[in-house]
Amino acid sequence: MRTKLIAGNWKMNLEWDQAMTLLADLVHWHGEQDALTSEVAVFPPYPYLRHFHEFLKQHRSAIATGAQDCSEHDSGAYTGEVSAPMISSVGASYCIIGHSERRQYHREGSDVLLRKVHLAMDSGLIPVFCCGEQIEDRENGNQTFVIESQLESTVFGLSEEEFSKIVIAYEPVWAIGTGKTASPDEAQDMHEFIRGLVQGQYSESCAQQLRILYGGSMKAENAADILSRPDVDGGLIGGASLKLDQFTQIIQASA
Ligand code: PGA
Repeated sequence: MRTKLIAGNWKMNLEWDQAMTLLADLVHWHGEQDALTSEVAVFPPYPYLRHFHEFLKQHRSAIATGAQDCSEHDSGAYTGEVSAPMISSVGASYCIIGHSERRQYHREGSDVLLRKVHLAMDSGLIPVFCCGEQIEDRENGNQTFVIESQLESTVFGLSEEEFSKIVIAYEPVWAIGTGKTASPDEAQDMHEFIRGLVQGQYSESCAQQLRILYGGSMKAENAADILSRPDVDGGLIGGASLKLDQFTQIIQASA
């Protein structure tokens, strides 16, 4: 039985006071729920991670934290970069790697992404590795081919033991921040396809325990339908994670 993960990717949003208000409200709400079965994690901008960790500990909250990216280097003269060991040292548990906004705006390719995955894992972080096709790929019917090659050139370079620790997020690029969501069937089909690939690459048990999140305009209105599909093990939520009522309804829909 896989525990669902509802992950809020805050991206580059919210200044300190707004961020703390949202976190405090979320922690308060979460602490009052007694029937939740899903795991919840928030991915704020780097400068907030340490304080978030302290706050969550202080409130004995089960909510986890993660970073939205990490450097491809582990230390040294890389101005502006933040390393995986640093992220781990401030108490984060997860690290998103390969988000389409990183691939697109920072031209991150397969080699860089695999290095990041290794560095994150070496630091004890759980990578949330993103893959997703462009709209043209889907229109041409090439979506499974694209996802397969994205995984083959990156995380399929891990050993089975390593791979069994990661989380995959399927995020069709055309659905991110656009208000267009993959239909529950489209999400389920791709998740099933990914699980099948993992079974072929590693083993059935590895495939069965892998958590595959869906990301791309998930909101309160469509979450229950998508999250009820057998191969959808949670969500990576951008815009809707910035609104308490939306995010909490998604968490409830996953339980
Ligand atoms: P969105 O973003 O929910 O705003 O579409 C999802 C993501 O980019 O992780």
